[in-house]
Amino acid sequence: MKPSQPAQGLFITFEGIDGAGKSSHIETLAQAFAAAGRSVTLTREPGGTPLAEQLRALLLHQAMDALTEVLLVFAARRDHLCQVIEPALARGEVVLCDRFTDATFAYQGAGRGFDWKTLSNLELLAQTGCGQQAGLMRNPDLTLWFDLPPAMAAARLAAARQPDRFEAQPQAFFSLVAQGYAERARQAGQRFARIDAAATREQVAAAMLAAVAQRGWLTAADPQAGSGALP
Ligand code: TMP
Repeated sequence: MKPSQPAQGLFITFEGIDGAGKSSHIETLAQAFAAAGRSVTLTREPGGTPLAEQLRALLLHQAMDALTEVLLVFAARRDHLCQVIEPALARGEVVLCDRFTDATFAYQGAGRGFDWKTLSNLELLAQTGCGQQAGLMRNPDLTLWFDLPPAMAAARLAAARQPDRFEAQPQAFFSLVAQGYAERARQAGQRFARIDAAATREQVAAAMLAAVAQRGWLTAADPQAGSGALP
């Protein structure tokens, strides 16, 4: 990036079923962008603001009906978008967000069976009119989809911490969620980059950095980009 050029905001999201291992790679990408001279905002959904983190605690641990769950997810998203994501993008930062609306289509839509069209309407409502260009819905510039067979994810989760409401779901639920991600990827086309999360940690990191470099946002000259080097 030339110092005279104002940096353009970049919104990158990380998606995948629970146990796919995406979270451990967010830090790697943050370091690659920082090494290339970019300011990075690391955040997550549900959450990312004090209000949205309170909603996250309810969503992960409190029983509720499907519509309540959907409305809370989008309420948290709206607050997060207006308070954190849009201001960071306006400052020209790289926003790396652990999950965003594709998770809602995958978990609430495909997993819980919530109406896909209603989710599309709520998506438009929640992601329009707070900071972005008038009338435009905010979407990620790139979604890194960590795709892992549900059986492998279940094996990884079994060794993990006390499960929350979503992690405690049976493998059949995650098969539906995985199908939901595949459908969103099909619909979104270029916005999605599928990463084979069954590969080794080094290979997954290399594939992630390559997907970003391919779009011209990190070059081979930037430390770590394209090399797959881990910090
Ligand atoms: P995390 O453990 O990756 O931080 O995600 C928290 C859980 O919330 C995860 O099981 C997926 C779920 N979730 C939804 O069901 N809908 C959503 O829109 C989001 C963002 C997350």
